[in-house]
Amino acid sequence: MRHRIKSHTSNEVEVFAPAKINLFLAITSKRADGYHGLSSVLAKLAYGDVLRVCKRNQSDGINLSCPGFEHLENSENLVFRAATLWFESTGESWGADIKLEKRIPSMAGLGGGSSDAVSTLIALNQLGATQLSPKELIHLSAQIGSDCPSFGVDGLCFAEGRGEVVRSVDPSLAENLLGQKVLLFRPSIGFSTAEVYKKLAEKKNYSTQGWAAERVHAWEKGELTTENLLHNDLETAVFSKHLYYRPLFQQIEKEFSLVPKMSGSGSACFVLIPEEFEHMPQLKELILEAWGDDCWVKLTQIID
Ligand code: C5P
Repeated sequence: MRHRIKSHTSNEVEVFAPAKINLFLAITSKRADGYHGLSSVLAKLAYGDVLRVCKRNQSDGINLSCPGFEHLENSENLVFRAATLWFESTGESWGADIKLEKRIPSMAGLGGGSSDAVSTLIALNQLGATQLSPKELIHLSAQIGSDCPSFGVDGLCFAEGRGEVVRSVDPSLAENLLGQKVLLFRPSIGFSTAEVYKKLAEKKNYSTQGWAAERVHAWEKGELTTENLLHNDLETAVFSKHLYYRPLFQQIEKEFSLVPKMSGSGSACFVLIPEEFEHMPQLKELILEAWGDDCWVKLTQIID
């Protein structure tokens, strides 16, 4: 996690907050606590937000600025929740000025808010006198959001439970995917995670835990390619309402032999781009033609 720290002095630290995609997301049950049981493989991306945290000596609270995204400068922001939890659990009481350079679109399934929260914990841990262990940071992050713990794991992450039971994927497998090009694209609409899960619960369209475990196991053993692993159970919940997804996915598959997937609860999607791929302008044009010029498109890559 420490490699996310881009620079630091004794009272200022800059931390990268990567976006994520779900290479695999199987939803296996609705639990008694209202959450869903899942099995997921998550990859972090070179595209992300940047957090600058400045330590003040007066204990006068947390001050968040988010230039260009002033509507995010409020106590609902997970950065606040993360900072509050860190101060509570360490017992430290200095003030923090946090500047968030926001790039990851919200309500996109790219984990922006969760990643910002975990990077806040990393930054405060660097500046504070108390250093919580990586295990303690993961435990804290689970209290912020289901996606958060995956950002506390280096390399590709395998997540279970409601997302909080995490481990790194075999590093040799993760290494193969380092630098893998990813094209992200998102329609000009965002989705609420809770709403998408609710829709899935109505349909009860779950995978079995056995099937999910088998797929991930086969992939980790090298018996399944990453392209064949790609899966997202939340697609059915979104695609039945948002009818423009399927035709574009089918066109991408047919014209470019690529496998598009939605990330998390959407609305963003991705395609893994092979090294030898020569049709990027045509692919981007197809996406923009289908979903309009206000559709967001970004080429990035998988990092560790
Ligand atoms: O954990 P987080 O606050 O990010 O989750 C947002 C919402 O998404 C939850 O309130 C829940 O409705 C849904 N969710 C779920 N099962 C999960 C994760 C999220 O049902 N494993």
